[in-house]
Amino acid sequence: MERLAIIGGTGLEQMEGVVGGGGHTPETPYGPPSSPLIEVEWGGAALIFLSRHGEDHSIPPHGINYRANIWALQQLGVSSIVAVAAVGGIGEAMVPGQVAIPDQLIDYTWGREHTFFDGPEVEHIDFSWPYCATLRSQLLQAASVAGVSVVDGGTYGATQGPRLESAAEIRRMERDGCDLVGMTGMPEAALARELGLCYASCAVSANWAAGKSDHEITMDEISENLQSGMVDVQSVLRQLAQDYFQGSSKNGLPKK
Ligand code: HPA
Repeated sequence: MERLAIIGGTGLEQMEGVVGGGGHTPETPYGPPSSPLIEVEWGGAALIFLSRHGEDHSIPPHGINYRANIWALQQLGVSSIVAVAAVGGIGEAMVPGQVAIPDQLIDYTWGREHTFFDGPEVEHIDFSWPYCATLRSQLLQAASVAGVSVVDGGTYGATQGPRLESAAEIRRMERDGCDLVGMTGMPEAALARELGLCYASCAVSANWAAGKSDHEITMDEISENLQSGMVDVQSVLRQLAQDYFQGSSKNGLPKK
């Protein structure tokens, strides 16, 4: 049975439709995940929700235990992960509030625990197309049915954070071909691939990236744009759950 998990980012720390209690925090060889894994019921599908920055948003992008998060989801039988992410818009389509389903990425992060293959077991996964084609097309189809306009494709540049970028860094990323910039897309995507999970990103533009507008980027601006964008994201995710993950096992979380 296909089972869907949603990793919520900034602006999507909580979900409606929570089933049961406060969730389950499993042990992993890498330590605990960012937050308890919560079971959520949407449109006849039982989804697992994980808050990437912690329930109280206290974990910065470079401090997230990406390995524990992905490992814990896999242990629960999750087969597909939609990673919700706030991003800065670089390409002109990425107007604040706009949702995109990227199809490529470039990793500019450093110093993060980024692999399960640390030795003695070593495997070099194929990462030519970092996002799962099946889940991407399901997301695009769900968006179309839900009447939400999304940008199909684009290159996500993953930066280290927590600071935002300089205008010159964004100009360089633009020359590299990046359309959007965020801080959490890597190593999350690669870790999911290493464990054989289908992973796609649903990115919401929170602001024009550094130097792309005539004003400083403020947290108020980011929160405001995310509020409207996350309404669209949730409509897409509901449709996705209903159309492709209905009947996935309910109450599948171990009691703990
Ligand atoms: N840069 C990086 N990450 C982000 C941004 C940004 O401008 N906005 C939201 N997340």
